Amino acid sequence: QKKTLILAIETSCDETSAAIVADGHIILSNIVASQIKSHMRFGGVVPEIASRHHVEQITQCIEEAMSQAKVTYQDLAAVAVTEGPGLVGALLVGVNAAKAIAFAHQLPLIPVNHMAGHIYANRFEAPLEFPLMALVVSGGHTELVYMEKDGVFEIVGETRDDAAGEAYDKVGRVLGLTYPGGKQIDQMAHIGQDTFHFPRAMIKENNYDFSFSGLKSAFINTVHNAEQKQIALNKEDLAASFQASVIEVLVTKTIRACQEYQVKTLVLAGGVAANAGLRATLKEQMACQLADIKLMIPPLALCGDNAAMIGAAAYISYQKEEWAGYDLNAIPSLEI
Ligand code: KG4
Ligand code: ZN
Repeated sequence: QKKTLILAIETSCDETSAAIVADGHIILSNIVASQIKSHMRFGGVVPEIASRHHVEQITQCIEEAMSQAKVTYQDLAAVAVTEGPGLVGALLVGVNAAKAIAFAHQLPLIPVNHMAGHIYANRFEAPLEFPLMALVVSGGHTELVYMEKDGVFEIVGETRDDAAGEAYDKVGRVLGLTYPGGKQIDQMAHIGQDTFHFPRAMIKENNYDFSFSGLKSAFINTVHNAEQKQIALNKEDLAASFQASVIEVLVTKTIRACQEYQVKTLVLAGGVAANAGLRATLKEQMACQLADIKLMIPPLALCGDNAAMIGAAAYISYQKEEWAGYDLNAIPSLEI
């Protein structure tokens, strides 16, 4: 039987990506052009620079994805693109590239929510079993999302301030790490010990919301106070203490949400899903507290932003024939 091939495009932040996905769960190609080097010296993503790089990279990324997958435009069933959330100028590059291709080759145009894409990155491992709870942790978002079935999302909790990845990156900057600091803190945390006992914000509150700005401030104050008194602190212990606080709050509240919503599956998603400590703690705690719930963690290569995950999410809309018109616009603060 002929496979449904979707060309997917992702340009929401600082990765220009194009992929060919078959039947929503087979990756034929997944090209990711990272711009991190261009943003590094500014300590974060500069929106204007991101947009310019996307413009420069997008055509080549798409051509590369097509040629690696050995497909032509005639083989495609649809074009999918991230419509939000993200940086508006960055999103617009992908949206306009997708529209142009859809128009030129008379293909259906499928808008995809970036966060849904992160969740569907897990679809490449195995079919999703519902109902499920997804802990989506990235540089821009931290959410617990309940899904009764494919394509239906309910936010049951979210961060009131900083996203988990954002806190990692800000704390990384204070430690003098290059942007983004998340991965380096994760590595340092495995050498250090939780000696600082930073606060576990909102852990006891009867809701599924999070807050990471207090932890970030506690961390920064600790470092600055030590600097003033010219005391040298152990950076690995600082990293371990910060990570212990983030993980304990995320895991505790996620497990509670899984229990209350009586889900079959817990799905981890987003850039911070690459965190070794978080992956290990979730596995451990799920095994002893919720052994009957299946835990899904995306492969490392699919945790960060990429177009394949957009192709997986798009396949659900494809089956329902949910197309967009040529008036499709980028929506920077799109909710899942
Ligand atoms: O999903 P993503 O690629 O982009 C957004 O949609 O935001 O996530 C990027 C975030 C960054 O904040 C980065 O520091 C964080 O994911 N990250 C990590 C790790 N790898 C990436 N945070 C903690 N531990 C990691 N191993
Ligand atoms: Zn993302």
